[in-house]
Amino acid sequence: MKNFALAEKYNAVWLWAGDPAAADANRILDIPEYGKPGWGLVDGQYLHFATSYLNLTDNLVDPAHTSYVHKRTIGNSGGEDVPVKVEHSEGHIVAYRWVTNAEPVPVMKTYGSFKGNIDRWQYYHLYLPSNSYVDFGAVDTGGELTEKAKEGGFRSFTYNFLTPETAASTHYFWLHLRNYGVGIAQVDVDIARVYTQTFEEDRDLLAAIQQQQEATGVREYVKLSIDRAPARDGLAHLVVLPVRLDDLPADCVERVQRRQRILEDHRHLVAAQRPHVAFGHADEFLAFEPDPAGDLR
Ligand SMILES: [Fe+2]
Repeated sequence: MKNFALAEKYNAVWLWAGDPAAADANRILDIPEYGKPGWGLVDGQYLHFATSYLNLTDNLVDPAHTSYVHKRTIGNSGGEDVPVKVEHSEGHIVAYRWVTNAEPVPVMKTYGSFKGNIDRWQYYHLYLPSNSYVDFGAVDTGGELTEKAKEGGFRSFTYNFLTPETAASTHYFWLHLRNYGVGIAQVDVDIARVYTQTFEEDRDLLAAIQQQQEATGVREYVKLSIDRAPARDGLAHLVVLPVRLDDLPADCVERVQRRQRILEDHRHLVAAQRPHVAFGHADEFLAFEPDPAGDLR
């Protein structure tokens, strides 16, 4: 890659694969709660997915799958028949629903203090091509289903940054913010484990989907009424350019390798163990390498 820019933000390195003069670090997804008092943070998390990033983005605009795939953590049968609504704007999709008067899902049973049944929201935001966050929470059942109600509820935000590795594999960086168990180290550990387990369930499912797509040679979609298959058509035109780290200029490689050594001193950053491969997109920053905050290079 001859032209690129890097920015460091949110304990990640972001790669702009194009004219550095056109790079604008302000276009990196904003995370208002990051570093704010009252929010517990688990960051620096990484998983490798043997599936196209397109399958991941499909999954990240599909709140309905949690009712079936994540019954051990963030889903239960309470949402099985609740339809999803979808709204689009320029470069953004949100798929959402409220599951009302339902039993708390496991993570809410463990960490919440609800009186009984709850009204639970799932808002899945996707910023094209491959950044997402999930606004997830609940309040005691019977109140208004509004943004204001969410502010006083049990709430978390999971941010997911997808960096394609190949056409059939993806680096999955994620971080989690929550307004419960704040400042309790054991809850940090537990949340990292619970959400790793959740995303490993996605990983296994999406790897199987990838295998089927390769076996059949097609990407077949089953458009269920419950999930409305909301975003796939909007994603079909996107093209991503693969770039190997070996192709980067020597000074960039040295910086990355230096970061790698730093990261290896921080055992909680699983990302340090992943392959030295990055991908760039023509007009978008992509998560690349965890590191403390910095500025555009
Ligand atoms: Fe999932």
